[in-house]
Amino acid sequence: MNAIDWKNLGFGYSKTDYNVRSWFRNGEWSELEISDSEILPLHMAATCLHYGQEAFEGLKAFRGQDGKIRVFRMEENALRMQRSSEGLMMAEFPVDKFKEAVRKAIKLNERFVPPYESGASLYIRPLLIGTGAQIGVKPADEYLFMIFVMPVGPYFKEGFKPTDLVIYREYDRAAPLGTGKIKVGGNYAASLVSGHRAHANGFSAVLYLDAREKKYIDECGPANFFAISKNRYITPKSSSILPSITNMSLRQLAADMGMIVEERPILAEELADFEEVGACGTAAVISPIKRVYDADLDKEYLYGKEPGKISVQLYEKLRGIQYGKEPDPYGWTEIIE
Ligand code: PLP
Ligand code: COI
Repeated sequence: MNAIDWKNLGFGYSKTDYNVRSWFRNGEWSELEISDSEILPLHMAATCLHYGQEAFEGLKAFRGQDGKIRVFRMEENALRMQRSSEGLMMAEFPVDKFKEAVRKAIKLNERFVPPYESGASLYIRPLLIGTGAQIGVKPADEYLFMIFVMPVGPYFKEGFKPTDLVIYREYDRAAPLGTGKIKVGGNYAASLVSGHRAHANGFSAVLYLDAREKKYIDECGPANFFAISKNRYITPKSSSILPSITNMSLRQLAADMGMIVEERPILAEELADFEEVGACGTAAVISPIKRVYDADLDKEYLYGKEPGKISVQLYEKLRGIQYGKEPDPYGWTEIIE
């Protein structure tokens, strides 16, 4: 293997040694299997291929200054994947087995966990797909759960340097009572055209508005939205956004810092009132935003060219817990022995 340039990793696929798999057949999940193949044996009529019966997750493991590897809030990912299963009528993968699979996938690929100094981390991708053959629109009777991992750097190429978002009202990511609140592939397919246009115009992502009224801020394609104003941490409440585990953690950290936390509908015009805005998620961590361009109104909202003070504090606190530099009062991390 060529040496990995840990410091210059982007967010992309790379092969690691092993992945972990479990098959649901005859109403039961198999023991976890270890595979060194990147290929899946798949029936051509599998429901994941035709009708999008699939869900995924994303979480990270970090190597601390003490050399230990910590994984962040994996139980929350296990529970969210169960909600995705419920949303698409897929077999539920048990939480304890999910955690066991995460531990195994990290352990088996330990040499790919980036060193502390690099600022990179190991991205863990659980996947659940309908593998049973159907041609009617019906849930499959067979499923595959698997986890693969890879070392990654920042999702937005700027890393923690502020980036630009754009509002286009002509696209929706998810319907108000649709699948936006679960982590299923179709939401991401639905964001490709608008996301491509945003990138082609120099923006790092689209900031979607609510699909019903086009008045309120929903979220970015791959991350939640938050704003800071007058000692408040403000983040959208909406039925069509993914309940982000990073955002949930930041709400707690903001409250602990003495801020008022508001989860409520946020009008797009309020962008003019905010001191700092950011995108947050596992891949995005905290990505401060320096400009939101409303393409329909040809209006721009500008924030600092450098990350704002509160965003820096939240980022440092969160990273501190993830890398084991700060106490972890809520037990968010588990050390992988
Ligand atoms: N919103 C969307 C649409 C996402 O894909 C993600 C990534 O998982 C998030 C928000 C952030 O969620 P989390 O913090 O749990 O990674
Ligand atoms: C994550 O942050 O883990 C995600 O799944 C976002 C994804 C689109 C890369």
